[in-house]
Amino acid sequence: MKPFKIGEVEINPPLTLSPMAGVTDFVFRRLLKKCGGVGMTVSEFISVEGMTRNSPQSKRMMRFMEFERPFAIQIFGANVKRMVMAAEMAEEQGADILDVNCGCPAPKVVKKGGGSGLLRTLPLLEEILTEIKKSISIPLTLKIRSGFDEANINAVEVSKMAEQAGVQHVALHGRTRSQRYTGQADWDLVKQIKEAVSIPVSGNGDVKSVENALQRFEETGCDGILIGRGAMQNPWLFRQIQDAIEGCEVFEPTLQDKQEVLLEFFELLREDMPEKAALGKMKQLAGQFTKGLRGGAKFRQTLYHSHSAEEIVDNIGIYFDTLNEGKRYGDNAVETEVEMIASCDALSKVDESHSQATT
Ligand SMILES: Cc1cc2nc3c(=O)[nH]c(=O)nc-3n(C[C@H](O)[C@H](O)[C@H](O)COP(=O)(O)O)c2cc1C
Repeated sequence: MKPFKIGEVEINPPLTLSPMAGVTDFVFRRLLKKCGGVGMTVSEFISVEGMTRNSPQSKRMMRFMEFERPFAIQIFGANVKRMVMAAEMAEEQGADILDVNCGCPAPKVVKKGGGSGLLRTLPLLEEILTEIKKSISIPLTLKIRSGFDEANINAVEVSKMAEQAGVQHVALHGRTRSQRYTGQADWDLVKQIKEAVSIPVSGNGDVKSVENALQRFEETGCDGILIGRGAMQNPWLFRQIQDAIEGCEVFEPTLQDKQEVLLEFFELLREDMPEKAALGKMKQLAGQFTKGLRGGAKFRQTLYHSHSAEEIVDNIGIYFDTLNEGKRYGDNAVETEVEMIASCDALSKVDESHSQATT
């Protein structure tokens, strides 16, 4: 549980905000970085088909702020030439690390051979990694799943091949492509990979508490941990884990902190996109932040029926005032399980026209 290096890039603390299409955009990453404890940020996955055709959407997705560093750009695709071109573009853009997505289970990505589809075509994956490695000078990393399906679990084999091809860090989400987001992530495989390769290895999947993170470090000997969905429900999770690693008192956000983070998120969204889009994003994600708070379900409904920025801000104010005064809000129930946004194709818009154009 100490900082580690990917090439010359230090990851400190050893905690990465896991890439989530439609979630970990420019705004969300900035907010999380401010909450503290995030050692590395990663872009949403970006289609090499879009990137190499200069799609405006891809350009927007490559944006980052200096204070996010180290920052990795993650690309997906299956065409060797375009993967190489996109990797070069990511380096030119100033990314510290280039990450190849080998985990996305979305049919429209897999059908074209990309994402977790590459776990079925190791010679192609090897060629992609080898060619990218020759063409960039920033470190190359790989994010994989356990395997394509239960009968083809090959994460250890893929990691060994990747190390030989020059990959400098492997992150494993311990589920197969077929599992999507069901069941529990297999962390034993993280341990097996760690024992099989000498590059740093990070584990990923279902980390939602400080105890859980510490236990995973302990049990697997992994160098780092990636956290995705847990960050939507508790943006301070990274800071809390860092506190625990450093032996400090673990930060506990107050109601005021929670209100402020919601308002700040909305403000950043409004700065970055048209009001309608900001309202949509706020409605998608705000509910996740209210896990463990009274009347969370009703609050989500209220936000859902808000039609302007003023209404959203007013409703956030009313909600937190009610909680602060100890009054009832809606049914006043505390939800222990808030429905998670649980798929990489739920929110992402993989650009069909670019995917179609694969050459
Ligand atoms: C909405 C959503 C979008 C995702 N998008 C990506 C992505 O673009 N690239 C990627 O490598 N993984 C993606 N993932 C997978 C996560 O990075 C992570 O591997 C997975 O959610 C397991 O970790 P967690 O339990 O901490 O969320 C996505 C997951 C979700 C829920």
